[in-house]
Amino acid sequence: MLAYFSVFAIFHTSVLAARIWNNTGVGTIIFEEAWTPPVLASTVGKQTPPVGQTSEQLAENLLDVHNQRLAGMDANGVDFMVLSCSSPCIQGISDPVVAATTAKQANDELAATIANNTLRFGGFAALAMHDPVEAAQELKRTVEELGFLGALVNDYQQTNDSSMIKFYDTAEFDPFWQVVTDLDVPVYFHPRSNIPLLGNLEFGHSSFLRGSSQEFAATLSTHVMGLSTNGVFDRFPTLKIIVGHMGERIPSDFSRIDDQLARQVVNGMPMQKKLSDYWRTNIFETTSGNFGTDLLKFHIGQIGLDRILYSVDYPFVTIEQGTEFINTLAETTGLGEEDIVALKRGAAIKLLKLDQ
Ligand SMILES: *[C@@H]1O[C@H](CO)[C@@H](O)[C@H](O)[C@H]1NC(C)=O
Ligand SMILES: *[C@@H]1O[C@H](CO)[C@@H](O)[C@H](O)[C@H]1NC(C)=O
Ligand SMILES: *[C@@H]1O[C@H](CO)[C@@H](O)[C@H](O)[C@H]1NC(C)=O
Repeated sequence: MLAYFSVFAIFHTSVLAARIWNNTGVGTIIFEEAWTPPVLASTVGKQTPPVGQTSEQLAENLLDVHNQRLAGMDANGVDFMVLSCSSPCIQGISDPVVAATTAKQANDELAATIANNTLRFGGFAALAMHDPVEAAQELKRTVEELGFLGALVNDYQQTNDSSMIKFYDTAEFDPFWQVVTDLDVPVYFHPRSNIPLLGNLEFGHSSFLRGSSQEFAATLSTHVMGLSTNGVFDRFPTLKIIVGHMGERIPSDFSRIDDQLARQVVNGMPMQKKLSDYWRTNIFETTSGNFGTDLLKFHIGQIGLDRILYSVDYPFVTIEQGTEFINTLAETTGLGEEDIVALKRGAAIKLLKLDQ
């Protein structure tokens, strides 16, 4: 009898807590979509806008939620958008105390901003990654108290020591990954611009390559591959990581990566499987800002359609560009209707647990 009641209680609670969102049954779900919280508005520098826009327009689009952003979603059949703090967000704050305070404030601002329209908007937490235990506590707070769907980190955490940056593939971060897997929420790995020390050495000679054409993928792919080679997925087999821009090129290069890493086993590399294996068990990729249809077909062969999800990268990429990609997928890729629905919303509903 007691058992019956406790089962009933759990069932009842989860029914009450089920997320209500604007599920039209056909609209898209997108979740690498940037927003600048008011607490960080004064720190945002000039950024390169999409062709045909000014950097002022881009800055306005980053601050907006309920006006042109929502209108664009309506016009393009976007059912639901998950917002996250625009890069580098907290990863660009060197002081650990300021970073932790600002993260809390940015998360509270995001929750308050979307509170009157959670039918259309959800949130990913911004986290100070100086201290793994503090980061885990803030993630838990945002998921359990603010209803956030996971976190988005903007690559490595810069620190107050300009010769030291923090990557989350070291054992120091195990307490963080423990809480992430206990909460069973995904963490999105999003790129950032390098700290000057690195960026100037690497891109000073050809500054056009800073940002999204080369710098972002080059730096972030190293971090994501480090999670594998350092054994994070072996220690946390249920961990879910999301990588945008069609996987920051990694699944395009599996043959060489797997082949070359096999040579590192004798050097004590802790990774238990092939790097490509984790893209079928732990890592998901999105199409954000990368709508290459030949590449999509190739990646379906590499990792399977169930690991590939639609996203846009608004406002750095227009929602219209994404819509054009989605609406022509049948002709450009030969994918059937069921597969297209999985790509544009089905896999996201599962990964973000929108149906729970
Ligand atoms: C639900 O989303 C569609 C776009 O897919 C939009 O046109 C419609 O207005 C939305 N409904 C609400 C209540 O927000
Ligand atoms: C939510 O609040 C904002 C800011 O006051 C407002 O612009 C927007 O129309 C509101 N949205 C809804 C669905 O009430
Ligand atoms: C940087 O922060 C760490 C951790 O709070 C502190 O121990 C260290 O003294 C700080 N270093 C500088 C140069 O401020």
